[in-house]
Formats: sequence, C-alpha cells, structure tokens
Amino acid sequence: MVAGARAMPLVEISELQVEFGRGIEAVRVVDGVSLSMAAGETLGLVGESGSGKTVTALSLARLLPVPPARYAGGAIRVEGREVLSMSPREVRRIRGGVVSYVFQEPGTSLNPVLRVGDQIRESLRLHHPEADTEAEVIRLLAQVGIAAPAHRAREYPHQMSGGMQQRVMIAMALASRPRLLVADEPTTALDVTIQAQIIDLLRDLKGRLGMAILLITHNLGLVGDLADRVAVMYAGQVVEEGPAADLLRRPGHPYTRALIQSVPVLGETRARLPSIPGTVPQPGAFPSGCRFHPRCAIARPECRGRVPELVAAWPGRRVRCPYAGTGGGEVCSGSA
Ligand SMILES: Nc1ncnc2c1ncn2[C@@H]1O[C@H](COP(=O)(O)OP(=O)(O)OP(=O)(O)O)[C@@H](O)[C@H]1O
Ligand code: SF4
Ligand SMILES: [Mg+2]
Repeated sequence: MVAGARAMPLVEISELQVEFGRGIEAVRVVDGVSLSMAAGETLGLVGESGSGKTVTALSLARLLPVPPARYAGGAIRVEGREVLSMSPREVRRIRGGVVSYVFQEPGTSLNPVLRVGDQIRESLRLHHPEADTEAEVIRLLAQVGIAAPAHRAREYPHQMSGGMQQRVMIAMALASRPRLLVADEPTTALDVTIQAQIIDLLRDLKGRLGMAILLITHNLGLVGDLADRVAVMYAGQVVEEGPAADLLRRPGHPYTRALIQSVPVLGETRARLPSIPGTVPQPGAFPSGCRFHPRCAIARPECRGRVPELVAAWPGRRVRCPYAGTGGGEVCSGSA
C-alpha cells in the first residue's frame, strides 16, 4: 500500500434509507445511516428496540424482503462493491461468502429434523464444496468450543442446550469463512453465564480468525470489552459513534449517556436503576427537530425545531447533538 493511503473499508454504508410500505403509507425506519467498518474491526451497534439496528444489518446483504421493504436511498459498499445495485447472483456471493449472520434464537434458526453436522455440511456445500467433509465439520465444531465434536455432530438440535445451539449457529456462519460476522443479539435468549461464554467465544474467534464482527445489542455493557468502535442508533439514525473505550467513558449524546446509566454495574447497589423516561418513538411518528427531544434531560426549546446533524465533536467521535459537551456541561464530563 502507498504510504499514507487508507485501506478500503470492508463495509461502507452511506446515507442509507429503508422504508416499509408503499406510497403515502411508506414508513421510513432507517433514515440516513452512514457507517463504515475496517477489515477485522468489531463494531458494536446499540440502541433500544425498534431503532433500526437489524434493518441496517440485514441491508448489508440485501436480506430484507422487497416488498414490503424498499431501499429508498443511499449506498452500501461491501469490499468496494455496491450492494444495492448488484444482480441477484452477485448478492448471493456476498451472502455467506463475505457476510454471515448469527441471530438471537438459535433454536428457531436450526432445522429440528436434521443432525447438526449435516446442517453445517449444508453450509459448506453452499460456500466451500471442496471442504465439504466430515473432518471440516468436526474442525468447525471444535473451533466454537464444542467438546467431543464428532459425537455432537450426530446429535439433533433438541439434544443440545441453548448455549450449545448458539455455538452450532456460529459454526454454521463460520463455515463460509466470512470476512464479516453479523451477530444480532447473539446472547439475548441465553442465561447470563452462557452469555458470557458466547461473548468470550466471539472475542476468541475475532483474535484467531481476524474477521470483522458487527455486534448488535441493546446492552452497551456487553460491547464494552469486545467492540473496537460503537455506533448508537436512535429512531432510525446514528446519534453517536466513536472508539468504544472513549465513547463509553465520555458519552457525548444525552441518549448514549442515559443508555450507559441504565446498565447495572456489578457490585454496585442502587435503589433503582435509572431508565430512560418516555417511550421509543415509532417510525412514521418521529418527533420534530431532534428525535430524542421529548426524552432528553437537557433539551432546550430550540431542540423541537432544529434537526441536528451527525458531526465530528472530538477527534474520531461523531455526535448528533450540538450541545454535547457544552450546554449540558455534565453531558461529557462524567464517566460511564
Ligand atoms: N418486515 C417489516 N415490516 C414492517 N416494519 C418492519 C419490518 N421489519 C422491521 N420493521 C420496523 O422497522 C423498525 C426497525 O426495526 P429493527 O428490527 O431494525 O429494530 P431493532 O433496532 O433491530 O430492534 P430490536 O432491538 O427490537 O431488535 C421497527 O419499527 C420495526 O417495526
Ligand atoms: S439536540 Fe437537544 S434534545 Fe437533542 S440530544 Fe441534544 S440537547 Fe437533547
Ligand atoms: Mg433487532
């Protein structure tokens, strides 16, 4: 590479707009999202339910059903290629070949009548027919920390615990050797101790395989030690983005700050965990001006009318609030 030249991002989403429904009934659920990921990087995508995290992630491999979905604007480049204008054949190469997904409910994603080994072979057959062997299935199961993998490969999903099923889902996703693993709430359906094990596994795989991970979760605490960067979504938009450690230590946007404050701290007893007041706005009924204004602790009268841009607030940090670190004073000065 030429000295000083920047490597091409693995993923570059620019001003993405996604709608559901048609004509005047159309509702925009993702509204101008721009995000990029470098090869090998882990990006945590956080935000409350309905903020558009999954829709954004599914758009990467054009996995939304069209209709009712419609890509209404913007661009998505994966390894430099524009996904939204690709032929169906090219998109199939992106799915699995470059981007693989692991979802929340492993039990519902696995086929109950197929042995788990056969399900992994199916994924191999699709993406790497030359590696479609028993040995590769066993290697993949061992890679995700499943003991006695040869024995486990012959089991059916119902013979496994939820944590084990999620490991199988991750093995299936890895079968295609993706450059980007999208893990959408991969631990939400699991017990707390199993959650920690799956996060450990993702950290281990990230180190060993060097693949990028898009980790989607409601829980900022979860991304704290896994993500390199964090993007926070609210009402279909990114409201803050930056290096994980810095953003968690010095949240700029009042919404990020409120999210962090609602994460329980181990060993700390509080009479009541603060929750964010008000309710998450529904697409089609987003508030005017700053979409967070009805719930914002430091809202000013002008916030109702003025639409804030996502702008560089500090080096490497973008925030969609002109008062981050100024009028709110305490907004930026506190620790997570
Ligand atoms: N197939 C669909 N048809 C209509 N609306 C949809 C569809 N899929 C998603 N939406 C809407 O798009 C919005 C964003 O949904 P999305 O699933 O991306 O949220 P999310 O941030 O992933 O939430 P969660 O944390 O609950 O998973 C929601 O209001 C949702 O109701
Ligand atoms: S623009 Fe106003 S309402 Fe929105 S986050 Fe900033 S201070 Fe709060
Ligand atoms: Mg989701």
